[in-house]
Amino acid sequence: MTQHNNPQAEQMGDESMVRNLAAQAIAIWPQEEPLFERYRLSADCRILDVGCGTGEISSRLARLYPQSTVIAVDLLEDLLEIARDRYRDLAPRLEFRQQDAFKLEFEAHGFDLVVCRHMLQAVPRPIAVLAQLKRQLKPGGWLHMINEDYGMLHMQHGKMNPDRLWHAGVITLLENTGTDGRVGRNSFTMLHRLGMQDIHIDYIVLDTLRVERETFARIMQAWQDGFTKTIAENTALSEQEITDTFRQIVADILNPERYAVWHVPVISARAP
Ligand SMILES: C[S@@+](CC[C@H](N)C(=O)[O-])C[C@H]1O[C@@H](n2cnc3c(N)ncnc32)[C@H](O)[C@@H]1O
Repeated sequence: MTQHNNPQAEQMGDESMVRNLAAQAIAIWPQEEPLFERYRLSADCRILDVGCGTGEISSRLARLYPQSTVIAVDLLEDLLEIARDRYRDLAPRLEFRQQDAFKLEFEAHGFDLVVCRHMLQAVPRPIAVLAQLKRQLKPGGWLHMINEDYGMLHMQHGKMNPDRLWHAGVITLLENTGTDGRVGRNSFTMLHRLGMQDIHIDYIVLDTLRVERETFARIMQAWQDGFTKTIAENTALSEQEITDTFRQIVADILNPERYAVWHVPVISARAP
């Protein structure tokens, strides 16, 4: 069941993911943090972070709201151990627990803010998870998500065609393993169907002008290290094409003459 609800468990548990989450947080958080102002949270708010990984953002939220209580959950105990170890200075106000997003073990309607970042693309039946997240919110509480969409990464073409990697590679991999690589754009409809209110979609522009090239390149390098094998095993792309394309992407991002952008959707909505 655990594997079934986290089909990318192997990639999520790989050391490349730990590096990836660190680089993603450095790249994304400066543009994401101001978005939390919209929620007008009280100083002593209760926050739930679902699919927290190594706690990069759970810890940033605990620091942003110094009187808050933050409970962060993930299926993978190894990642939770890293998080507990790194952020012991924030305990017990920040707590990491092993739980499945499909069956969260809290009384309903106990949180002012529910956060779920970079997770929904990795689960089957994302609407079932969204229903769980909604259930955790107090009336009027906010849901804040980063739901990935692999059709929103744009790199210049060279010898290799990066669009093929994202579309025929990553989106097809997720389709073939039962999840949705376009869940970013599909989130609005699901939230609407669930009766969520005040739906907003903001975009973080993670590009070579706004983010350090080295940081952006570290994200792509970590994806190459963690995902090449599974893309090759589950799509028509060969390991050689995937490797060559990632190499070109990383080299381009590091090249001051070249440009690359990832539009990262930040999706928020209020519980009725
Ligand atoms: C890409 S990581 C994102 C980590 C963190 N939210 C961040 O933004 O840094 C996705 C996380 O979701 C977790 N996950 C996947 N399926 C899950 C499920 N059914 N229940 C709880 N966590 C899950 C994975 O184990 C992984 O740690």
